[in-house]
Amino acid sequence: MWSTKTQTSRVEAEDRAYAEKTCDVLIIGAGGAGLRAAIESHDKGAKTLVVCKSLLGKAHTVMAEGGIAAALGNVDPKDGWQVHFSDTIVEGQNLSNWRMAEIFAKEAIDRVYELEGYGALFDRTSEGKISQRPFGAHTYRRLCHIGDRTGLELIRTLQDQVIKRGVPFMDEVAVTKVFRDPKSGKASGALGIDIRSGGLILFRSKAVILATGGCGKVYQVTSNSYESTGDGIAVAYRAGAQLMDMEMIQFHPTGMIYPAGVRGLLVTEAVRGEGGILTNVLGERFMSKYDPKRMELSARDVVARAIYSEITEGRGTKSGAVYLDVSHRGAEYIKKKLPSMYDQFLEFAGVDITKQKMEVAPTVHYQMGGVRVDPETAESSVKGLYAAGEVACGLHGGNRLGGNSLSDILVFGRRAGAAAAESAAKTGMESVEDSEVEKEIDRVLSVFSDSPGANPFYLKEEIAKNMWEHVGIIRNEKDLSAGLVQVGRLKAEAMGVRAQKGRAYNQSWLDSLQVWDMLLGCEAIIRSALERKESRGAHTRSDFPQKDPKWLVNIITVEKGGRMTHELSPVPQAPQELEVLIKE
Ligand code: FUM
Repeated sequence: MWSTKTQTSRVEAEDRAYAEKTCDVLIIGAGGAGLRAAIESHDKGAKTLVVCKSLLGKAHTVMAEGGIAAALGNVDPKDGWQVHFSDTIVEGQNLSNWRMAEIFAKEAIDRVYELEGYGALFDRTSEGKISQRPFGAHTYRRLCHIGDRTGLELIRTLQDQVIKRGVPFMDEVAVTKVFRDPKSGKASGALGIDIRSGGLILFRSKAVILATGGCGKVYQVTSNSYESTGDGIAVAYRAGAQLMDMEMIQFHPTGMIYPAGVRGLLVTEAVRGEGGILTNVLGERFMSKYDPKRMELSARDVVARAIYSEITEGRGTKSGAVYLDVSHRGAEYIKKKLPSMYDQFLEFAGVDITKQKMEVAPTVHYQMGGVRVDPETAESSVKGLYAAGEVACGLHGGNRLGGNSLSDILVFGRRAGAAAAESAAKTGMESVEDSEVEKEIDRVLSVFSDSPGANPFYLKEEIAKNMWEHVGIIRNEKDLSAGLVQVGRLKAEAMGVRAQKGRAYNQSWLDSLQVWDMLLGCEAIIRSALERKESRGAHTRSDFPQKDPKWLVNIITVEKGGRMTHELSPVPQAPQELEVLIKE
């Protein structure tokens, strides 16, 4: 299929050519949310297509290592969905959508048993039930796990199901744009780059599900992999969808600190769940100062701030870390329960965690903010555009509990798949305007211009440095404003970003486009962070150190007249029968 313009030369027309693919439901992203959505959409009879930027199986889902949270009550029989619901809302600092939390806490249980039915090989209790371990700020032992490789097993299991069903997928396809039907306003397809060949693909569909994960790579130190550049956020925003609570970025308390090449790599919370102890360079078990009751198993925001304080107040190690020690559990137990951590530290840092302490420091791990979605259907504010998993917002509020992300992607991936398929069954094909396709092709090819311009690798580094320096664990007006000025400067430079010639496997092309997406995400994060003049959950302002009831609002980011604007939306009030369950 050619897009022709009378004045374009033959060479230009070839460059602008695009293939076409048609389906009912287009799913962008193949982590846990995308794969679970694919299973549901396919099983509901929709012609489903999954595309992902990376290779199938390589998703940030694998970085949720320590377990999947669901109130099975196998180890602590007093647990139930009501307590899980309450923990999620309370630790989310009351910013979570109550209905999402209710659906989540109830359905997580079924999703875990379903995963077991799909073939996931969970660790077992002595009675043969799915084993559950403690995790920070969960009232009961709730994390169903497969050693410390839970995310990996989840992806493996879902992938088997998708392949078994014959759901078509295309990996190494980077989506740059979601289109909307000019009349109905509904999502009607997307433009993608086939990374292998450099060719363009126009996807026409009746519904689109974003399952693209987060934007951890806008920070210098992160557990996230190369792919987590916030493309889904940018694509949704440019399609007119509302974003929510973008200021809420989770710093996981424990990431590796050396060697430099693995700085930020996750040290699973399961280490603390299995009894790991945090100490500073003076040998003090410092969590007794910050949360004497829960100690190392306090909420992530609390532990991350505690470690940050110990380091910045001069009680950290020479490498700028604190110690984490689990060696008292013995070699056999550690190798059984934490096999990845054992290998990771031995291989990368030459540290034997069965005998030696680890050195750890906070690392950017997760975005709680994202695309605002309807709790029942996961539909965004744009009809026909759905979002599930880390790219979506509403469940985790101001601070996500460890292990809640894996159950989130199953619960809301399934709901998004079902709703998209049901909607597709009721509607005909929406249309994609040729002029919109042409505009997007202009945009994605503009980085090949012959005029000199900025290097995308350099810009990516500058972006990550700026966020790390100005939008960290502790924020204030001065730093945030400096960060925003820097984003403005980088945006100006990025207008002239240039890719190397050649289209096949051209990383500099993808990086150039990602620079624009990353800057959009950074701007949304900083503007929301400036807006929220209080400290709540993961958002700590040294100039507004208290939590303020007047900020019991969600901050909505939306494009208006070409400008990024913000609105405040009161957090919906839970009905009385749920309100009484919430235990502060
Ligand atoms: O520490 C971890 O294993 C991470 C889990 C999560 O982010 O849910």
